[in-house]
Amino acid sequence: MDRDAAGLKDLAARIEAAGGDVLALEADMGNIASLRASVDAAIARFGRIDILINNAGIYPRRPFLEVTEADWDQMHDINLKGLYFLCQMVAPGMIERKAGKIVNISSVTFFVAPKLLSHYVASKGGVVGTTRALAKELGDFNVHVNCITPGAIQTASEKFFVTEQQSQDFIERQTLKRRLQPEDVARVCLFLGGPLSDGMTGQTLNVDGGWVLY
Ligand SMILES: NC(=O)c1ccc[n+]([C@@H]2O[C@H](COP(=O)([O-])OP(=O)(O)OC[C@H]3O[C@@H](n4cnc5c(N)ncnc54)[C@H](O)[C@@H]3O)[C@@H](O)[C@H]2O)c1
Repeated sequence: MDRDAAGLKDLAARIEAAGGDVLALEADMGNIASLRASVDAAIARFGRIDILINNAGIYPRRPFLEVTEADWDQMHDINLKGLYFLCQMVAPGMIERKAGKIVNISSVTFFVAPKLLSHYVASKGGVVGTTRALAKELGDFNVHVNCITPGAIQTASEKFFVTEQQSQDFIERQTLKRRLQPEDVARVCLFLGGPLSDGMTGQTLNVDGGWVLY
């Protein structure tokens, strides 16, 4: 599920080429009705949702004193409200089956709090808090809720806003001396979405190359 129709088409084609069965749905994280429609469509097609990975997010920079109410609302609608209600939509089926895995993507910026991202950091702190609260409420039903805080990930879109010098700086401040790739986060999603993490819930895992060592 994504709002980017072209990106969805490309991803669906790659999953199909790898032998996967895929249902790509256009939805807006800020529009709860569109999320409801997507969840219903996925359940109609596959019968149930066993794993929810909440990855969609935005991170426009703005000085604290210039953040408007509209900036705040957009950030929180996409990064937190949509995530929260998607959890609420998939939880009833998981509770009924007494099994389920929810993985929320926060950000290591929650811990390091860089300048110009105050509204983003606030939304990602909300993701960590939501994860912990839902883990408690859903634990009785064997529904696991965990969270990943990625560090600086070298995504395809990064080239539009990260300079070569900044890229080197990311490596410098990490313990591991290489740029992290989207697959580094995806592999931890696989871990948290599968049986190897059955003993964990309410946790926040840094996938940041050892940028933050606690
Ligand atoms: N890239 C990093 O270094 C980094 C670091 C920490 C956390 N994160 C988090 O990881 C997640 C993925 O980030 P990314 O860097 O891959 O970003 P990205 O912009 O490359 O991808 C974000 C995805 O979210 C989708 N999206 C944005 N707004 C949406 C909306 N309203 N409805 C539905 N989909 C929407 C976009 O279409 C895109 O596919 C985000 O939650 C981000 O905050 C990224």
